[in-house]
Amino acid sequence: MSFIIAIDGPAASGKGTIARALARHFGFHHLDTGLLYRATGVKGGDPVAAARNLTAEDLTRPQLRSAEAGQAASRVAAIPQVREALVDFQRRFAAREPGAVLDGRDIGTVICPDAQVKLYVVASDRVRADRRAAELGADPAAMLDQLRERDRRDSERASAPLRPADDAVVIDTSDLQIDEAVAAAIAAVDRVRPAR
Ligand code: DC
Repeated sequence: MSFIIAIDGPAASGKGTIARALARHFGFHHLDTGLLYRATGVKGGDPVAAARNLTAEDLTRPQLRSAEAGQAASRVAAIPQVREALVDFQRRFAAREPGAVLDGRDIGTVICPDAQVKLYVVASDRVRADRRAAELGADPAAMLDQLRERDRRDSERASAPLRPADDAVVIDTSDLQIDEAVAAAIAAVDRVRPAR
């Protein structure tokens, strides 16, 4: 059976960085599931049809990282049929050997409720806005408003809202350097998966 690491948390919490580092450390596959929703939002037209017909090319468009794509993703992600259309792909990815790291909003709660390790990565609003603003070359105050709007929509939606799984390990990256956050995540995995 493959080993699954589920990582959830709000925007710019550091979950993507941690997910990539864990995948590299353990030699696992990594899926940034936000890209699926971003690509669906960017594709335009009927969002349900867009989600059902995503292509590899849709997932590599340069504009997927923009703040606009993030907002579009958050809006289409509230549509239950869009979420349903993306479930199988994510679960098949999670089953890849020898293991997989998936990061998103509902991985530990809905997509992979049986994941061996679940992490919930958080950081203060201010830290998240500053990080994302620096990444995108945007204004931190405007970024703070955008992140809060997106988190509110992601947390309050009826279908698979953002929330920690009951058995998730919470990592607050507000006052951590990247290597410290990664070390905390590796330690959480090592507790259930002794080094081989
Ligand atoms: O992780 P991200 O910022 O790229 O995600 C963009 C949006 O996609 C996010 O605001 C909500 C949605 N999303 C989701 O609903 N479920 C996921 N597993 C991943 C992302």
